[in-house]
Amino acid sequence: MSGHGDPKPMMARKSGALMGVAEVPGDKSISHRSLIFGAMAVGETRVTGLLEGQDVLDTAAAMRAFGADVTREADGTWSIHGVGVGGFAEPDDVLDCGNSGTGVRLLMGAMATSPISVTFTGDASLRSRPMARVTDPLALFGTKAYGRAQGRLPMTLVGATDPMPVRYTTPVPSAQVKSAVLLAGLNAPGETVVIEEEATRDHSERMLAGFGAVVSTDVTAEGRVITLQGQPELKPQVIAVPRDPSSAAFPVCAALITEGSDVVVPNIGLNPTRAGLFETLRDMGADLTYENPREEGGEPVADLRAKFSPNMKGIEVPPERAASMIDEYPILSVVAANAEGATVMRGVKELRVKESDRIAAMADGLRLNGVTVEDGPDWWIVEGRGPGGVKGGATVATHLDHRIAMSFLCAGFASQEGITIDDSGPILTSFPIFEPLMGALGATLVPVA
Ligand code: S3P
Repeated sequence: MSGHGDPKPMMARKSGALMGVAEVPGDKSISHRSLIFGAMAVGETRVTGLLEGQDVLDTAAAMRAFGADVTREADGTWSIHGVGVGGFAEPDDVLDCGNSGTGVRLLMGAMATSPISVTFTGDASLRSRPMARVTDPLALFGTKAYGRAQGRLPMTLVGATDPMPVRYTTPVPSAQVKSAVLLAGLNAPGETVVIEEEATRDHSERMLAGFGAVVSTDVTAEGRVITLQGQPELKPQVIAVPRDPSSAAFPVCAALITEGSDVVVPNIGLNPTRAGLFETLRDMGADLTYENPREEGGEPVADLRAKFSPNMKGIEVPPERAASMIDEYPILSVVAANAEGATVMRGVKELRVKESDRIAAMADGLRLNGVTVEDGPDWWIVEGRGPGGVKGGATVATHLDHRIAMSFLCAGFASQEGITIDDSGPILTSFPIFEPLMGALGATLVPVA
């Protein structure tokens, strides 16, 4: 839902060693997709481990508005009685997707080839984000979109009545765009093809195959060519959502930079399209190990163990790794500030159109707390101050962005004077148990009046 009440400022104090086991919540990307694909199957899909963050709850409400029966049982299992591909009803009110770009863009794709009209809106962050990257390819199916200038929400989409299959090369590396086109292709006849030059997270492809669609990925000179046969009958599934590597990043990185720490974060998916941060940290010299590596539900999984790492060095992050760690650059910049030497991050233009302009938000806040940062349109460089070298003492603006909020709180634990954020409310979108979880590890978080 748009807005989340009054801002809730919070301070992270310099903390002692972080110790213990951090059980982070379910994967946000997989949670959204479980609800959406479940609603497009015929019969009951059951989901355990769903992330019950506000972004995902907003998608659950949207699926109900489209006519699916979505309920949460007392033991935390979610049940979705789907309406089948092409079976969506027209919502009788505006769909409010809150803070979630993934939610709104996947929902646009899912309804684009049904003969219904839907008006989408969101909070101030989401209303400032570009939607043309999704409505442009959806127009090729015959979908019409009427929004504000530069493709901003609120926006009404009129679904195609006689959809055409589409062949589309994504102009930006985006799993949301890829997934929106594939979701629209479900209710179009024939083959829909999406081509991406750089691999982005492949949860939609994996889940489509799991639900019984015919989908294949070929790696060619053009890039990854994903082909979907339209108008399948999706078969309901039993889904165990793995834990979110993007949430695991926070206790892992907090432990690496906070003196004396030793933290285990169990059961984290290490799908190569998501695990770029952990490789980067290891390249920097982090004491980060993968314990009990195993396969679960076709995904590589391990328990991550992170220990305080006083010898980390800044590196040039390989730009080809960007898509596999795109949500992790804010917390990486905090680790970089506590390493020796400069960390150079290039090829990251997409960071400027996330829940906030993440390069600007992190650069501004780090500078206020005594760190030197240089930045340009698609790059930034953080000058490391060595272990415990971040002064702190300032209050930073989080711009309705959960990952900016959590990144600065983690920075505060290892800083000299603590760091305050102007609003911790957005953390509820993706990591509702962040505060008690970090507190149980020994971190000091205090609400500010
Ligand atoms: C997501 C894709 C990424 C990521 C977002 C989740 C997804 O966005 O930043 O948090 O679940 O498909 P883009 O597709 O815009 O890169």
